[in-house]
Amino acid sequence: MRQVRKAIFPVGGLGTRFLPATKALPKEMLPVVDMPLIEYAVEEARAAGIEEFIFVTGRGKTAIQNHFDSHIELETTLRDRGREDALTLLNGRKPEPGQIAFVRQMEPLGLGHAVWCARNFVKDEPFAVLLADDLIMSDRPMLQEMVAIHEETAGNVVALMEVAREDTARYGVISPGEDDGHTVEVLDLVEKPDPADAPSNLAIVGRYILQPEIMDYLGVGTRGAGGEIQLTDSMVKLIGSDPFTGVRITGTRFDCGTKLGFLEANVAYALRRTDMGSDVRERLRALLDQ
Ligand code: UTP
Repeated sequence: MRQVRKAIFPVGGLGTRFLPATKALPKEMLPVVDMPLIEYAVEEARAAGIEEFIFVTGRGKTAIQNHFDSHIELETTLRDRGREDALTLLNGRKPEPGQIAFVRQMEPLGLGHAVWCARNFVKDEPFAVLLADDLIMSDRPMLQEMVAIHEETAGNVVALMEVAREDTARYGVISPGEDDGHTVEVLDLVEKPDPADAPSNLAIVGRYILQPEIMDYLGVGTRGAGGEIQLTDSMVKLIGSDPFTGVRITGTRFDCGTKLGFLEANVAYALRRTDMGSDVRERLRALLDQ
């Protein structure tokens, strides 16, 4: 069984739903409390045993590159000022040299195309894909749970969430087979189905473990829903050759690609923080009483 050691972070999207904030700032750099979204995704991957972090970037995403790089001036200033606490925050989370790679998606042709751009880094190993704007707050990191399932099945694994019927057109939706209430056999997948045609209300959220063979299907470059090269359309082609398992997320997923989801995530994470949770609760109450 091949271990999952590599993760792809597609960050080449335009983030149009978050304009004007995302005109010069990548969506993935928006902070939830005090940490950018992309760092939550990297931390989750690290907790799942990922050793190689591959970012698929686009124009205007250099802030992400800088975020995971050394900042010698800042480090020197903090050291001179005796700010060991801030230095630890800065350096504790930096990947080791050689653990991180950036590849450019020259045109935002869709999520499937972004994943395909990383093919030469993935080579012939199974890999994870994490979408940083799908933030999952849970006691056990979601990808860790998925890696554990991959260790049992050696197949493809996707994270699932039940959505309202009327929302299926916003997601990839599965056709479920055997279902034990936590994991579900995936029989088929459809990208953005109309509610009337959706095979279920079990939608894929932004965590995947995929077999490398998917790169051959993605390479064909077939356009799907919205004229984009969809990851889902190539995932369908993997069904039947290896086990394909969906796992319901435990915890809460925030769609940080939308303003409401992003605001909700900030409140939820702030309320959980031991250093500020009670103050936040008090201020929220005061605001609500106004
Ligand atoms: P979204 O559907 O959220 O698209 O992409 P977007 O462009 O980021 O945002 P909106 O819809 O314009 O507001 C889902 C994920 O796929 C990545 C995005 O960065 C995001 O993580 N993506 C999407 C790419 O990397 N490249 C693409 O061509 C499209």
